[in-house]
Amino acid sequence: MKKTLIALLISLGAFAQNTISVIPKPQNIVQGKGKFTINSNTQITVGESNNESKDIADQLAMRLQIVTGKPVKVGIGNGTNTIAFVKNTSIEKEGYILKVLPTGVTVEASNPIGHFYGLQTLLQLFPTEIFSSSVQPKISLTLPECTIKDQPRFEYRGVMMDVGRYFFPISFIKKLVDVLAVHKLNILHLHLTEDQGWRIEIRKYPRLTEIGSVRKESMLGHYNDQKYDGKPHGGFYTQNELRDLVAYAQRKFVTIVPEIEMPGHALAAIAAYPELGCTGEQYEVGTKWGVEERVFCPNEKTFEFIENVLTEVIDLFPSPYIHIGGDECPKDAWKKSQFCQDLMKKEGLKDEHELQSYFIRRIDKFVTSKGRKIIGWDEILEGGLSPNATVMSWRGVEGGITAAKQQHDVIMSPNSHMYLDYYQGNPSTEPLAIGGFLPVEKTYSFEPFAPELTVEESKYIKGVQANLWTEYVSKPEYAEYMLFPRALATAEIGWSSKEKDFTDFGKRLTKHFERLNQMSVNYSKAYYNVDFSTEKNNLGQPIVSLKSNDATGLIRYTLDGTMPNEKSLIYTPTKKILVTGDRTIAAALFSKTGNIVSGIATKSYVISKSTGKTYTLGTEPKRYTGGEKYALTNGVRGDINNNEPWVGLNGANFDFVLDFGKKTNFSNVSVAFQGAYTSWIMPPRNIEVMISDDNKTFKSIKKMDLSTGVKIESFVQQLNIAVGNNNARYLKILAENYGKLPEGHPGKGTPAWLFVDEVSVR
Ligand code: ACM
Repeated sequence: MKKTLIALLISLGAFAQNTISVIPKPQNIVQGKGKFTINSNTQITVGESNNESKDIADQLAMRLQIVTGKPVKVGIGNGTNTIAFVKNTSIEKEGYILKVLPTGVTVEASNPIGHFYGLQTLLQLFPTEIFSSSVQPKISLTLPECTIKDQPRFEYRGVMMDVGRYFFPISFIKKLVDVLAVHKLNILHLHLTEDQGWRIEIRKYPRLTEIGSVRKESMLGHYNDQKYDGKPHGGFYTQNELRDLVAYAQRKFVTIVPEIEMPGHALAAIAAYPELGCTGEQYEVGTKWGVEERVFCPNEKTFEFIENVLTEVIDLFPSPYIHIGGDECPKDAWKKSQFCQDLMKKEGLKDEHELQSYFIRRIDKFVTSKGRKIIGWDEILEGGLSPNATVMSWRGVEGGITAAKQQHDVIMSPNSHMYLDYYQGNPSTEPLAIGGFLPVEKTYSFEPFAPELTVEESKYIKGVQANLWTEYVSKPEYAEYMLFPRALATAEIGWSSKEKDFTDFGKRLTKHFERLNQMSVNYSKAYYNVDFSTEKNNLGQPIVSLKSNDATGLIRYTLDGTMPNEKSLIYTPTKKILVTGDRTIAAALFSKTGNIVSGIATKSYVISKSTGKTYTLGTEPKRYTGGEKYALTNGVRGDINNNEPWVGLNGANFDFVLDFGKKTNFSNVSVAFQGAYTSWIMPPRNIEVMISDDNKTFKSIKKMDLSTGVKIESFVQQLNIAVGNNNARYLKILAENYGKLPEGHPGKGTPAWLFVDEVSVR
């Protein structure tokens, strides 16, 4: 008995120590029972025939030297007690075979890129301290015996950083390159020009940075707050800095894809050179976020300017792709410009979308003549796609599908999954973000091959990209918080096989957070946030269960919405929470030692005369159903960080008839609507409350205009409507959809969403 227990403990210990946990997950791992330990005689070697991989061997030597404090030699040859970078020409471009045997380690690849990726996997086989930037006296340099065969699923695995809205120092961009490379992400797309700032030195046009890189102030808080900080913000990268950055990234096989925005998002350039606009007026560099109507005018001066700019850009960045923007270009300025109208006639262009296509086509021709390819956001499809363009699909995947069907290359980057400026947790406890709700689990669930595409068409999907827009992200620490761990989910989508399991990813993530700690990456811990789920008892009262992704911690909660602390109630699955009155439950994960590990999650419940009652809707929801048939009376209040409890109607009015089952007294009706301008969700224009006893003839008891702000974000309009004393069986609520999205909105002219939740009646 004793013997067996000891054997079991030993094998458990061995398992815990040696479990292989790599992000992104390799294609194939076979783990053995042995191990290899580096000692003072271990050599790193490259074969004579692959001296081009010497730099990869040096990178490993440098890492080992940093954590051991002792120099490690890089030699030539093979043999035992070596970590050998070996050439194997049968392996495809980015692939590798990593073998750890008790006698030594080999990393096989056909070229340095494969060796580099083999090295990244090898590093994740060491204890997590291998990623430290200082000597780790206790580190044990032991590796588990294994054979890993690996290669990427997609060739383009990217992250975009918006350095236009806020300038980020080159030291941060280099750190970002380091962290991306660890995860086998191979593209850093830099969004270098914006309405609010031009960030790249162009020698022919010095005013771009003298004038265009500085704005007089920045917006504070949300767009609709219309507040400003009164402080100038600026910064730009010199060409020397960018050349150095490109070389730095090349050592890590990260391609920097530069983006020069056109024809929209160009106000900073127009402020520097007013002749680039349609009116010639002198403007200031933008201070307000959103979509700007002052755009490049498609005249010859502009084309000459852009070609000169791109000539310098192409000279600086060896990237095969040059991103030319193309998104969110309102056509108002072109409609008002006689020059543009005459140009359209002369060129036989039927509308301003075709004028935009004409613009992009000319740039495509120029960039193609320099041996490079353009990428543009999916608006470049409107008015006809330019012959050599790759499409970056951001407004969902539809643009990508259309482009692939037209046999154009596509990068999938849908805002539904890949917009890392969206919230990861409850906005009331998270740093300010643009809106939305995009937990790492949602990012992870993205599949780039759309079912609408045939196998042949899917070949045009070249990869994925996550984007960090920075209207609300002014500091490197916060950028890291938004990027990680969601960029790691992106890495796994881009690299690993199609079959995915979030639970497995989560286990590896928990381990991986230790590596991010070693790299001093300020990642978000929202992965551990508490999830709520609700069932009902036979009285229709909600019974709430709480769960976190880390089962080893303790969930603590309050019933009054206050922040839980180390003394709050402890949740256990055997004691679910029965809700019998109005409650806001706030919950968080704590370690056994009492430290808070997650963000705070909250959910509000309302119990009223309508709870559990049935109703009909004039238009049934399709995509946003609220999660169950009677979602509007289930006692769970929709909150801004999760669209799931909400009923969403696209273009339709909310026409709701509640049946109390019998005549019921009431004097107050409460209902909530969402406002999320950038998610195309608008509050209603007006609301009317009616009653009936036969569900045929209704009497109006209240009507209200709701002249709410339009450009509101992350906003819940909670209406509590006093309706006088009533006694009726049926209650009708009519709320008028906003209708078509307004001027200046990227979705202008298409129907708005109306999001409704929890009707409570007292
Ligand atoms: C974008 O988010 N406007 C590409």
